[in-house]
Amino acid sequence: MNIEIIEKPILFHLHGISGVVENERYGEVGVNLMNEMWRVVKGAKIPTTGINHWAYLPDNKMFVGVELRSPQQAPLPGQLEPLEFELQRYMKHLHVGPYQTLPQKWKDLKAELALRGEVIGSPSLEVYGHHCDDPAKAETTILIGLQVKAEKSTTTIGRNTFESIYADQPAWEIGRPQKAILDVADRITGSILDSGCGTGENALYFASRSHRVAGIDFLAEPINLAKRKAAERGLTATFLVKDALTLKDWTERFENVIDSGLFHVFGDDDRRRYVEGLASVLKPGARLFLLCFSDSEPGDQGPRRGEAQGD
Ligand SMILES: C[S@@+](CC[C@H](N)C(=O)[O-])C[C@H]1O[C@@H](n2cnc3c(N)ncnc32)[C@H](O)[C@@H]1O
Repeated sequence: MNIEIIEKPILFHLHGISGVVENERYGEVGVNLMNEMWRVVKGAKIPTTGINHWAYLPDNKMFVGVELRSPQQAPLPGQLEPLEFELQRYMKHLHVGPYQTLPQKWKDLKAELALRGEVIGSPSLEVYGHHCDDPAKAETTILIGLQVKAEKSTTTIGRNTFESIYADQPAWEIGRPQKAILDVADRITGSILDSGCGTGENALYFASRSHRVAGIDFLAEPINLAKRKAAERGLTATFLVKDALTLKDWTERFENVIDSGLFHVFGDDDRRRYVEGLASVLKPGARLFLLCFSDSEPGDQGPRRGEAQGD
């Protein structure tokens, strides 16, 4: 998919009308706000660039507005609200095709961003091209605000981000164990904790090899799915909703911990806390198998790198 990550800030200064969206009815609310905005703008004969901007704001708010040709012009009708915001860092994609295919395009873009380890910020917006009679040629520019790099390197990727990734198709959900885990499977003997297990493919693989396995994840949704898969496959494994940053308070002990993609989502302080917790749940002589992006990985996509030392 043709997407650009733009590091140069862009400023928007719009006038329009905002509303709250319930039950994900963005299209319907957006069209109503747009009709109302044009009724006011045309009624007051305000010169604009004519380009519709749909901005998606926090707390299910959306704003539909236009850029005015002379924003200082006074007086403006009371119904028109000003909205000024800057996207410091953002993704840009040109969607060419019918507006009805936009929701699927957003899903695809979010999945692609998750795959690249990008954390979606706010706001995001759609900028519509000028009217086109052929829906297949309609152009919509999608801009999605992204977390700035400096933040990405020092903060933990939080619960809300994982919830929104799970609302679509997470890039790591491949319906089977991760290859790197299969590669070390023969070196693992004894009980296993799968920390940040997601929907449990790695844990279930070891359960099928008769290991005593527990999987933990701080989100209930993937844990419930992992439990369902275990039941469907007739496998015995324990799946718990548990924050991996609280391992120090746990009384369970394991001969191995596998961590496939969890450690690298933590910021520095949480990494230290997590490592202390790992040390306390591992039995003496136990082993940790940790899969994360290494600093020898080319490019700068994905979560923050760990330093590659030993195996
Ligand atoms: C990149 S996914 C990897 C999932 C799975 N291990 C795999 O390899 O497919 C990271 C998982 O860690 C979970 N997670 C993130 N922070 C966590 C925390 N503090 N405690 C427990 N689980 C966490 C997320 O919900 C997500 O399921």
